[in-house]
Amino acid sequence: MDIRPRSESDLPRVVDVLRRTHGGGYPARWPDDPAAWLSPPGHLAAWTATVNDDPVGHVGLAVPAVDEPPLVTRLFVHPDHRGRGLADALLGTVEESAAAPVLRLDVTEETPGAWRLYERRGWRMTHRVPADWSKPDGSVPVMRWYEKRLR
Ligand SMILES: CC(C)(COP(=O)(O)OP(=O)(O)OC[C@H]1O[C@@H](n2cnc3c(N)ncnc32)[C@H](O)[C@@H]1OP(=O)(O)O)[C@@H](O)C(=O)NCCC(=O)NCCS
Repeated sequence: MDIRPRSESDLPRVVDVLRRTHGGGYPARWPDDPAAWLSPPGHLAAWTATVNDDPVGHVGLAVPAVDEPPLVTRLFVHPDHRGRGLADALLGTVEESAAAPVLRLDVTEETPGAWRLYERRGWRMTHRVPADWSKPDGSVPVMRWYEKRLR
């Protein structure tokens, strides 16, 4: 396994991986333009976790609001490659690369597999709040917001 900055040529494969994770409920709604969704507003950087040079995991960093800490976002790993520390390594890379002293992220209450990982890595939950989006069934999930102080 290797972690490297995401390149433009990785995008089709990363979108394929995202399609697989969407089957498990992430993202809850399939984006109109999945490649653009991978670089959300304020996009700063993104990395892929590769196995035999094949991107099978992804994470991004964005600054959607200038007065807020950067946001760790778009974290997902292909279902066939989970449980081997790829997400852990992707998070480690974001945390090492970030210039800001604090990072934040949000995660739905419904994905304990994800937020257990954040808590194990020292992320601290700051608050819970209803999402500003709804699932295809109309329900609004509760989001857990986390932050991590890096220095
Ligand atoms: C959440 C997600 C990114 C985790 O990816 P992952 O690569 O499987 O994560 P890791 O392998 O680093 O850690 C996950 C688990 O594997 C275990 N693990 C890590 N390395 C391991 C290893 N070498 N051997 C066995 N188990 C290992 C971890 O302890 C962890 O266990 P837990 O279920 O008790 O928490 C992945 O499940 C996913 O893509 N989910 C859908 C998208 C999503 O919800 N993203 C978060 C949005 S905020």
